[in-house]
Amino acid sequence: MKNNGIVPANGKLGIMVVGCGAVATTFMTGVLMVRKGLAKPVGSMTQYDKIRVGKGADKKYLHYSDIVPLAKLEDIVFGCWDVYPQNAYQAAMYAEVLSEKDINPVRDELEKIVPLKAAFDKNYAKRLDGENVKDCKTRWDMVEALRADIRNFKQENNCDRVVVIWAASTEIYVPVDEKVHGTLAALEEAMKADDREHIAPSMCYAYASLMESAPFIMGAPNTTVDIPAMWELAEKTKMPISGKDFKTGQTLVKSGFAPIIGTRCLGLSGWFSTNILGNRDGLVLDEPDNFRTKEVSKLSTLETILKAEEQPDLYTDYYHKVRINYYPPRNDNKEGWDNIDIFGWMGYPMQIKINFLCRDSILAAPLLLDLTLLSDLAARAGRYGIQRFLSFFLKSPMHDYTQGEEAVNNLYQQYTMLKNAIREMGGYEADEEID
Ligand SMILES: NC(=O)c1ccc[n+]([C@@H]2O[C@H](COP(=O)([O-])OP(=O)(O)OC[C@H]3O[C@@H](n4cnc5c(N)ncnc54)[C@H](O)[C@@H]3O)[C@@H](O)[C@H]2O)c1
Repeated sequence: MKNNGIVPANGKLGIMVVGCGAVATTFMTGVLMVRKGLAKPVGSMTQYDKIRVGKGADKKYLHYSDIVPLAKLEDIVFGCWDVYPQNAYQAAMYAEVLSEKDINPVRDELEKIVPLKAAFDKNYAKRLDGENVKDCKTRWDMVEALRADIRNFKQENNCDRVVVIWAASTEIYVPVDEKVHGTLAALEEAMKADDREHIAPSMCYAYASLMESAPFIMGAPNTTVDIPAMWELAEKTKMPISGKDFKTGQTLVKSGFAPIIGTRCLGLSGWFSTNILGNRDGLVLDEPDNFRTKEVSKLSTLETILKAEEQPDLYTDYYHKVRINYYPPRNDNKEGWDNIDIFGWMGYPMQIKINFLCRDSILAAPLLLDLTLLSDLAARAGRYGIQRFLSFFLKSPMHDYTQGEEAVNNLYQQYTMLKNAIREMGGYEADEEID
């Protein structure tokens, strides 16, 4: 591996997860099981994928960790916050994603992962009513308490570095308000003035993380770090940020399938996506204000792949609808249906149906591993602000919309961005070749 000025991944990496629910515990249990040689990290790019570096006679295909210094799974220490006090073992059992035989071998380690008290406001997730909540008078108090949590965790666990990742429930939709979210000074003022309407608890986690030199990743569709004030803070603290919303089931299919339609110059008249799921995430998303956050995120995918302004004959006014329905019997095993109405030669209509019987948290877990390891890498490589190369893992990727930038949602373009960032960090030339 070339030494390309990246700080080596020495010492322990603390991964502090906001939320200790289905996704978080599936992630933690998997990493601990892999460490024991009892499971395989299937679906993780950092553990499996190979990237071509060099060209012609010099080309070779290498794993990420042979190109750039990544933290090892053995060096990870987990921490978390949650509204409910159950430890990670109890939470994993409650989630019923993994069977007991895949949890019990690491039971002792999971039991030691006990959630810290959450920075929580019931108005942001009305269907939750746990008691493991910080007693904070203002949003600024939340920030101070979370900063102390990160510092203590780092010290108690002898960590060299910490990454914070949000895998907590989706909050209600907070539209960007230029007056509050436009600058760091305005954001801080609002936190101090306890402006509960514009400052979501997730913003307090993000602010605290960046101030404590921890990269922050938003795994839900919350606007949290998708605001200019947080970009300013990331610049100031020289920390990477990324989001939003883990790209797992239906949107993964959409971002991989829509390019087929676009590349082949077929027309689209409608795309109807619906889901049933019965886990706690589904329960929270059954609340219209929380669903609104998810809807905005899920809808954005097609708009940047199939563009009416580029192909008015093919993509003007197509009907795009996304639904999520809470259906308890399915628990974490989500079923998604996509009906796609396309048209071909001379406008003749055709239909495509996709029925994906997926497991939400099984698809999400490797994304948490990749996003945390790559954010830690980015910080050590001196990259800060929005990490667009992580768009591959996200449903509604962040971009500087104040500069007219557009999100990249096409899965294959996202993959090129990911590979090129790894190549560049590893001291190789970026390129656009297909492999
Ligand atoms: N599983 C997927 O495929 C997928 C994909 C994209 C995004 N997500 C998002 O990931 C998140 C987690 O999903 P899940 O299935 O694990 O949900 P979950 O309900 O099982 O877990 C979320 C946990 O977060 C806790 N929580 C809520 N607010 C909190 C706060 N302010 N501080 C600390 N903890 C808090 C809840 O008590 C709960 O235990 C959701 O926002 C979901 O939308 C999941």
